[in-house]
Amino acid sequence: MREVKNIPENSGTQARIEQKALSAKNLLGISQLSAEEIHLILYTARSFEEISTRAIKKVPTLRGRTIVNLFYEPSTRTRTSFELAGKRLSADVINISTKTSAVAKGEGLKDMALTLQAMGIDVVVIRHSVAGAPYMMARWTEARIINAGDGAHEHPTQALLDLYTIQSRLGRLKDLHILVVGDILHSRVARSNILALTKMKAKVTIVGPPTLIPMDIKKMGVEVSCDFDEVIPQADVIYLLRLQLERQKQNFFPSLREYASLFGFNKARLDKTKNNVLVMHPGPLNRGIEISSEVADIAQNIITEQVTSGIAVRMAVLYLLFGGASDIAEAAG
Ligand code: NCD
Repeated sequence: MREVKNIPENSGTQARIEQKALSAKNLLGISQLSAEEIHLILYTARSFEEISTRAIKKVPTLRGRTIVNLFYEPSTRTRTSFELAGKRLSADVINISTKTSAVAKGEGLKDMALTLQAMGIDVVVIRHSVAGAPYMMARWTEARIINAGDGAHEHPTQALLDLYTIQSRLGRLKDLHILVVGDILHSRVARSNILALTKMKAKVTIVGPPTLIPMDIKKMGVEVSCDFDEVIPQADVIYLLRLQLERQKQNFFPSLREYASLFGFNKARLDKTKNNVLVMHPGPLNRGIEISSEVADIAQNIITEQVTSGIAVRMAVLYLLFGGASDIAEAAG
């Protein structure tokens, strides 16, 4: 696997940065973004990446703004990443855990939205098990809403950080061949990545057992394969997904052992790849199921780079949702 970090010359589209802000005030899904806007976010993130390498990792861009992390589902990476992104932009960041808040007393989403609205919150970063919850939140409050994962629907900032990582390593997105492997049916990460990668003109092949591939997936502009070994040698990127067992309401394959033998990424499969292939995973990893422990250790530097990229990408999203509130040179300089 390639160690060199390229600084990309372009995003894979010929888009020029004419736009300085996103057209919408919320980031609800990749489906709402144009290729130019994706390019703008990735380009802006590159300016913010440097801040996280400084001894004092802070710029005043969002001073006086308040961000609430409202997570109705468990999270380590995404919640911490949004918290760090907000703090590095000097915003005040509050975490609401549904276990210790009035949600545990039965408070619904609408009343939560109205409560946050009454407190003058500027941004709500929301994760919810119900697809569409961030859209409802956006109707009930004037705060800017960022979708941090809604059911099996979308997880836009995960896809953006994945694209950022691919572009950093391989210098482009256009015409790369990306395999997205595993539980496509229940994965919001897969959906957002397919939308983002196809908008940036990458070639995407979905790989998994037929029971975990949505029937009409080809309409999203992807190829489908149920034979992982056959497509491995063509891949520039192998993107592995966790089996979303918490969302599976029936048995989709005979056993975890069989799944691992057909779709688990192991050393024998790694040996069939191009020598500069990127092996990626959004985390959390289930070692021994979608990825063997040995390969997980080999791929670790890219998987942790995804996590690092996440902070810069989320800083860029926050900055752009405020209309690029200050000059980027001043913000990042
Ligand atoms: C993903 C999620 O929550 O959808 N994780 C993440 O945000 N890093 C993927 C997963 O849980 O498998």
